[in-house]
Amino acid sequence: MHDKIFYEAKLFSSRNYKSEAEALDNIFRSLHISRNSSILDIGSNRGIHAALLSKMGYKVTGIDLNPKFINYSKKSVKAAKFLLADMRIFHSEQPFNAAIAILNGIYFNKTKKELSKAFKSIFNNLKPGGVLIFDINTNLLKDHFVNNRKGVIGYSEKKIQVARFESIRKVKDKVLLKLTYLVRDHSQFYSYSNLIRFGFFSIAELKGIAKKSGFKSFKILKFKNFRPKATCFICIK
Ligand SMILES: C[S@@+](CC[C@H](N)C(=O)[O-])C[C@H]1O[C@@H](n2cnc3c(N)ncnc32)[C@H](O)[C@@H]1O
Repeated sequence: MHDKIFYEAKLFSSRNYKSEAEALDNIFRSLHISRNSSILDIGSNRGIHAALLSKMGYKVTGIDLNPKFINYSKKSVKAAKFLLADMRIFHSEQPFNAAIAILNGIYFNKTKKELSKAFKSIFNNLKPGGVLIFDINTNLLKDHFVNNRKGVIGYSEKKIQVARFESIRKVKDKVLLKLTYLVRDHSQFYSYSNLIRFGFFSIAELKGIAKKSGFKSFKILKFKNFRPKATCFICIK
């Protein structure tokens, strides 16, 4: 059996990280954040955005709470720096020009208290005028929430097949994402699950907490080709 990161990478092999990084580059440059600026990638996962942005000249530091992702990124992406850290308590001696949290990273803060801690910490790690860009899948926002949503994605090659079933359910005040993986790797079959608890916030709540944490501006960012099923936000210090 390969490790779970290997199967996750296969599942996301058709995701267009390059166009996402290009969109981020365009956003940065429209905000006068030049290519030698420092970027904090929050929830950097396998380090793909960090790698692509580093290639463009940005000085990227990725942080993630999961040591497996940090070890993987350190081995596979030499151009960026990676640290095992929690976005809610991370403190950098050198503040950043910008921070990104792509693909629901901010939604890993489950309560208003956690979200407020995260926004405050990100705010403190930015230079004056620094920006935070984050996105949340639109149907996870309180304003557009779709309960009991189910979906499946898959990957298939001759000797490896991976399917990931997902279900999103709201149970009382909790939003639960259950991911179930079915894998065939040569002649072996595996299945495993992962239960993630997400936050459940409206756009107004996100804005209120970001502003209380110090951000002077909070806007929805409309940007063509950037994760069309997500709502993208920009906060300015
Ligand atoms: C859905 S993934 C997004 C990964 C990546 N940004 C992308 O676009 O593919 C969210 C990542 O955030 C990490 N994470 C969750 N809570 C965190 C926290 N409190 N501090 C730092 N990273 C966290 C997870 O381990 C995971 O790698």
